[in-house]
Amino acid sequence: MLAKTPPMGFNTWNTFGENISDKVIRELADAIIEKGLDKAGYEYLVIDDCWSERERDPVTGKIVPSKEKFPEGMKAVSDYVHSKGLKFGMYSCDGTRTCADYPGSFDHEFLDAETFAEYGADFLKYDNCYRPEDSNGPYLYRRMGLALKACGREILFSACNWGCDEVHKWIRSAGAHMYRSTGDINDSWISMRDIALSQKENLCYSAPGCFNDVDMLTCGMHNEGNVSSTGCTDEEYRTEFALWCMYSAPLMLGSDIRKMDDTTLKLVTNKTLIRINQDEEARPPFIRNTDGGSTVFFKHLSNNEFALLFVNFDDCERWGRVYFDGLGIPADTGYGLDLTDAYTGEHVGVKKEFWQFRLAPHDSRMYIGTLSK
Ligand code: GLA
Repeated sequence: MLAKTPPMGFNTWNTFGENISDKVIRELADAIIEKGLDKAGYEYLVIDDCWSERERDPVTGKIVPSKEKFPEGMKAVSDYVHSKGLKFGMYSCDGTRTCADYPGSFDHEFLDAETFAEYGADFLKYDNCYRPEDSNGPYLYRRMGLALKACGREILFSACNWGCDEVHKWIRSAGAHMYRSTGDINDSWISMRDIALSQKENLCYSAPGCFNDVDMLTCGMHNEGNVSSTGCTDEEYRTEFALWCMYSAPLMLGSDIRKMDDTTLKLVTNKTLIRINQDEEARPPFIRNTDGGSTVFFKHLSNNEFALLFVNFDDCERWGRVYFDGLGIPADTGYGLDLTDAYTGEHVGVKKEFWQFRLAPHDSRMYIGTLSK
C-alpha cells in the first residue's frame, strides 16, 4: 500500500523554482544522505515544474526533458536518485500547460504516465493550471489516477488542485495519495498561519492512503529561494513543523537542504515529532481554542499515547492553557496526563486538571503523553 503514513521527502519548488538541473538534483540526493534525512524518513526527491522543453516532441508527442538542464535525460537522474536508496518524483499538470508554461498532460495523460514510468518515477505531483474552460477538474484527476494505474509502475499520485471543487470530498475516489488543499505557501508567518488555520475543519478527511497536503515546508528557508517573502524565525518554523505533524500532513522539505543549518536539521529530524506525524492511525486532532488565548490541538495516537500542541497564533504573548476536562478528562476521575516535551525531550511529569504556561507570539509547545493517575 502506498501512503500508509504521510509521505516524506523533498520538493524543488520552494528553493529552486526554475533553477533545477541534473547537477542540483544529484547534489540534493547526496545531501539527503549526508544529513541523515533518509534515516529520519525522507525518501522522495521530487522535481517540480520547469524540467522539460517548452514543447512536446513533434514526432512521438512525448514531453521531453530540457536538454540544457538535464543533458543526460531523466532516467539517468532517476537512476542516481535510486542508487542512493531514495525515490524519484516528477511533476505535471492537468491543463494544456503547467503553471510555469511548460507542456501539461491534458489529453496526454496515458502517454505521459508511461513516460514517467520509463523514467523510473515513483511519485507524480499533478498541478491544476491552464485547464480548458469547459473541462471538469475532478474528471481530469480521475483520468490521471487511472493512467498511473495503467503505466506499469507503482507511482504515488500527489494531486495539487489547491483545494478547488471541494477536493477533500472526491479526491480519494480518484486514487490520489495526497492532495493539496490550499494555495501556495511562501516563506512568511502569515502564509503558513493562514494555510494551517484554513484546514482545521478538513482534517477529518485525511487518512491512511490519502493525506491532506498543506504544501511544502518552508522550515529553515530563512527567506532564500523561489518563494521568499519575509522569512520566519526559528520559533515560527518550529510551529510550522509541529502543525504539519499534528495534521498528519505530508512532510515535503522545501529549504536548500545542501546547506541546512543545525537548528533546522534538529527540528525536521526530531523523532518524537515525526512519530506523531507518522502515527499509523492518522487521527485528526480535536481542536480547542477557548482556554487561554492560544489554540490547543489534542490528537489520539496508537498505543494509548496522545499528542498535545499549543500554538499562539497571535502577535502578543498568551497563555498556553488547557483544562483537561475540556479534552474529556474530568478532574474527579483522578486522571491526568503524564507529559513529555516533544521539542526538548524533557519529562514534565503528571499534570492534573489543567496545564498552563506563557507562550511568546507565534510560538508553540508540543507534548506527548499518556493518561495517568
Ligand atoms: C503551482 C503549485 C506549486 C508549484 C507551482 C509550479 O503554483 O501549487 O506548488 O508546483 O505551481 O509552477
